[in-house]
Amino acid sequence: MVKASDFGNDFSWGIATAAAQIEGASESYGKGPSIWDTFTKRSGKIKNGHRLQDACDFYHRYREDVAMVKYLGFSIFRFSIAWSRIFPEGRSAVNWEGVRFYHNLIDECLLNGIMPYITLYHWDLPEVLEEMGGWTAFSINNAFNEFVEFCARQYGDKVKNWIVLNEPFGFTSLGYMLGIHAPGKTGLTNFFSAVQHAAIAQADGGRILRAEIRNANIGTTFSCSEIIPYTDRDSDVLAAERVDCLVNRLFVEPTLGMGFPEMDWDVMERFAVQHSTWRHKERLSFEFDFIGLQNYFPLTIKYNAFVPVVQAWEVKAKSRKKPHTYMGWEVNGESFYRVIKQFAAYPGIKNIMITENGAAYVDHLNDGVVADEQRIAYFKEYLSAVLKAKQEGMPITGYMAWTLMDNFEWAEGFNARFGLVHTDFKTQQRTVKDSGHWFRTFLNS
Ligand code: NOJ
Repeated sequence: MVKASDFGNDFSWGIATAAAQIEGASESYGKGPSIWDTFTKRSGKIKNGHRLQDACDFYHRYREDVAMVKYLGFSIFRFSIAWSRIFPEGRSAVNWEGVRFYHNLIDECLLNGIMPYITLYHWDLPEVLEEMGGWTAFSINNAFNEFVEFCARQYGDKVKNWIVLNEPFGFTSLGYMLGIHAPGKTGLTNFFSAVQHAAIAQADGGRILRAEIRNANIGTTFSCSEIIPYTDRDSDVLAAERVDCLVNRLFVEPTLGMGFPEMDWDVMERFAVQHSTWRHKERLSFEFDFIGLQNYFPLTIKYNAFVPVVQAWEVKAKSRKKPHTYMGWEVNGESFYRVIKQFAAYPGIKNIMITENGAAYVDHLNDGVVADEQRIAYFKEYLSAVLKAKQEGMPITGYMAWTLMDNFEWAEGFNARFGLVHTDFKTQQRTVKDSGHWFRTFLNS
């Protein structure tokens, strides 16, 4: 049975959240609207017509929530800063009430002996910037850099651990190519210009933090999934390679100074020609102190000529009769081990932190108890995979579970519950689930 002490005394344990998913108070206390505030008001965009509303009302309840982080036994609390709470207009005019909120939150963490990890961008772009083109616009980089510099100067004396972007492949593909997430844009042209600007933001952000904060520990995060060809037929193998290029390689390689991934694929070639910065390896790279990996599931990929661009199709876990979560995501700890191995093989990666990992299941609250055995089993399996990778010498120094409490799961709304703590969204009552109790015991083991 996996034990926390097996990971060593200097291994860090944390729990991760994001502003838009928990804070609420989204259009008060001087905050400007973000693309998610706007997107959730559009009909048909969020499952069951859920609206962001108060989310978890963390803005008013952060003290009790930080106390819960402490109770569960985590020493790191990862949260993000809502850009439009600091700069309601995206840049220039500061909302000092918002600035104070994060000071209070940071102080509360420090008072409780919890180390804050701040994510600068976890998907909630100020709406005014989206109106100017958002991540597809050249001007986004200056605006983002101003925001990073402001946060570094405000909080850099108290906070040493920073994450520049959360899952750039996630927000560029879902938000600018598939239109499933805010701002709901589609198409390859939008996607690749967003990719280009996000990759620049990632490296620029690292450079600004380095210049502004003494002794900073700077990272950025990538979603990753092992890509498994459905058969060993050439067509499936090549389809899996194309998906791997987008899902796993697109952002990490430029960061490492390798430029955007090169492969024999006309789509990548076309964009390399169209975008001037595509081959500017220096501007796109930054030596991060740690690389954050976020993993939930592998993808099994089959060739399909009718799917535009990638000509690949995911064969879902359910149809292959594999265990899966409420999201339909395959539960497969071994694949987690293998994808960590894939990233650890880059010579430029010296330090990996798992910055998110977790599972959504249908939970039932009965007499103050949520008996979520499936989530406990998931964590046991995935933590064993991390341990195996670490014991084989991969440089993994920390693990953060996703997430503290059930919250707003983007386009899935409130029904996809990932928390170690149950949230009653009507009363905002928190109840530690059995998985939370399990984690508390595990962290002492
Ligand atoms: C990725 C994102 O960073 C986070 O916001 C999301 O809730 C989880 N994964 C689960 O989908």
